[in-house]
Amino acid sequence: MAQILQNCALIFIVALTITSFLPFGSSDLIETTCQKTPNVQLCDNILRNDPKSSSANLDGLTLIIINSLASKSNYTLKMIDQMLKDRPELKSPLTECWNHYNVISTFFILDAIEAANNGDVRLGEESMYEVKDFAGQCDDEFKPNPSPFVNVHQMVSDIADVTSSMFTMMSM
Ligand SMILES: *[C@@H]1O[C@H](CO)[C@@H](O)[C@H](O)[C@H]1NC(C)=O
Repeated sequence: MAQILQNCALIFIVALTITSFLPFGSSDLIETTCQKTPNVQLCDNILRNDPKSSSANLDGLTLIIINSLASKSNYTLKMIDQMLKDRPELKSPLTECWNHYNVISTFFILDAIEAANNGDVRLGEESMYEVKDFAGQCDDEFKPNPSPFVNVHQMVSDIADVTSSMFTMMSM
């Protein structure tokens, strides 16, 4: 009986040791996943900034990237709120822009989250296509003048491309 208990304790300790090494296994998943995206550096930066990524599977990693996209879009809405006060002459394009980013934050991000939770590759890819389209429409509102959101658009577009490629990976 004592022997069995001892063996059980040993197995328990071995199991604990293995578990404590698991984050390293997942770091490999971050690396192998990001390497299959069009922007390895961006993907890597976002994922390593979130402690949840160390224990996440592909769906979980995708949700973390979607969350950073949501933050970016939400932050843009706040920026626009501020600019509406500072630059009343741009009220019309800024308001349109606000509407476009609001659709991203409240509609396409939710589609993407649902898609990641359900492994719905097509909905996921489509939602990222729409995100890029709506961010581009914001820039178009300022034509023929340059949009103040070109950099935001670029960043949103890059994150959407990374996310889209991760949805594609789910189907493989
Ligand atoms: C973005 O804003 C939406 C709508 O207000 C909110 O539900 C969501 O939690 C926010 N997401 C992030 C990551 O800030």
